[in-house]
Amino acid sequence: MIVRSLRLRNFRNYEYVSLDLCEGMNIITGENAQGKTNLLESLVYLSLTRSHRIADEKKLIREDMPFADIACRVEDNDSETEIQAIIHNHGKTLLINRNPVKKSSDFIGRLNVVLFAPDDLYIFNDQPRERRRIMNQEITKISPQYLLSLNQYQSLLRERNVLLKQEKTDERYLEVLEEKMAEAETIIVGMRSEFIDTVNEVMPDLYREISGDDIHVGVRYRCCIENKGDLRAELIQMHRESRQRDIERRMTLNGIHREDIVFEKDGVNVIQTASQGQKRMTMLAFKMALLRYIGKKTGKKPVLLLDDVLSELDETRQKKLLEMVQEPYQCLITATSFPEEIRKRNYREFRIENGTAAAVSGGGR
Ligand SMILES: Nc1ncnc2c1ncn2[C@@H]1O[C@H](COP(=O)(O)OP(=O)(O)OP(=O)(O)O)[C@@H](O)[C@H]1O
Ligand SMILES: [Mg+2]
Repeated sequence: MIVRSLRLRNFRNYEYVSLDLCEGMNIITGENAQGKTNLLESLVYLSLTRSHRIADEKKLIREDMPFADIACRVEDNDSETEIQAIIHNHGKTLLINRNPVKKSSDFIGRLNVVLFAPDDLYIFNDQPRERRRIMNQEITKISPQYLLSLNQYQSLLRERNVLLKQEKTDERYLEVLEEKMAEAETIIVGMRSEFIDTVNEVMPDLYREISGDDIHVGVRYRCCIENKGDLRAELIQMHRESRQRDIERRMTLNGIHREDIVFEKDGVNVIQTASQGQKRMTMLAFKMALLRYIGKKTGKKPVLLLDDVLSELDETRQKKLLEMVQEPYQCLITATSFPEEIRKRNYREFRIENGTAAAVSGGGR
C-alpha cells in the first residue's frame, strides 16, 4: 500500500498541512521540536487508532482547538481509500471514504505502518505486558479475529478472577469459564506461535545484512503451555492444573495474559550481553521482519516509518539500511540532516518548520 497524501488539521503543532508523498523514500527534515515525529505519529494513529507516544488523546489536539482531524489517501491494488480520524474532547470518529465506522476492528488494517522510533529500545527492559502489547498490536494488523479473541479472553478472565475472589468458589462454573477461555486462547496461542516463527524465518539474516556481523538474533516465545500438540486440550489442562493454586491465591496465575517474548542474541537475552548498537540493530531487524510478516499475511506491503534512526547508526550501516528499504517499501524517514548518499535515490524531501511543511526537492514518483 502507498500513502498518496496526508492532511492534518489542528493535529499537534500543525494548524493545517497537506503533503503529496512519493512511492519511494520521503525524507522529512527539520530542526528539533518542529513537528517531524508528529507527522509520523499521525500515520501511526490512522493505522492503530491510537498514538504510539501517549494515551491521553486530548494532547494530540492542537492547543486551544476543539478537535484534530487526520486524513490520508491510501492506494492499494489500484483502488484508493480515504481514511480519516477526528479526535475530539470526548472521543474520536473514524471514517472510511467519509462514512463513519463504529468498530476499530473495521478500521484497523486499512493502513498498515511499521514504525521504528528510538524509544523502542526500552521494550527490551520493560514489563512483559509491554512486549505482549507489541505482539498483539502487530498480529491485530493482520487479523481482526485475533483482536476479537483477545477481547473475549479478557472479559472471561475478569469473570474468572471475580469468581476466585468470592468466599466459596463455584468450581463447576470455573470449569465452564476455563473451557471458554481455552477456546479463545487456542486462536491466540496459534497466531502468536505463527507470528514468532515467521519473524524468526527472516530476522537473523536481516540482522546480518544490516550489521555485517555474524551474530544470531531472534525472538523466543514464552508460551503458557510447553507442548503445542492439541492446543485446546493442553490449555484446558493447564487451567485445570493450576485451579487449586488459583483458588488459594484468588487470581488466575496462568494463561496467555502471562506470556512474554524474549529478544535474544546468540541464545541469550539481549539485555544481558548486547551493546547499545547491537540492541538498536536487533530492533531494526525485528521491524524489518515485521514488514515481511505483515506483507506476507495480508498480501499488502506496509509503509515503513523511520523516526530519527540514521543519527544512531554509523555511515556504513546507514547506507545498508537505506539500501534495504529503498525498493520494496514506501518509507517516511525523519532526521535533522541526511547523508548525501540518499540524494542519489528516488526520493521526495519535505522541510518541516514550526508546524509547516514545504516540499523542497527530489521528484520521486
Ligand atoms: N497539542 C499540541 N499543540 C501544539 N503544539 C504541540 C502539541 N503537542 C506537541 N506540540 C509541539 O510539537 C513540537 C514537537 O514536535 P515533534 O515531536 O514532532 O518534534 P521533532 O521535529 O520530531 O523534534 P526532534 O528532532 O527533537 O525529535 C513541540 O514544539 C511541541 O511543543
Ligand atoms: Mg522527533
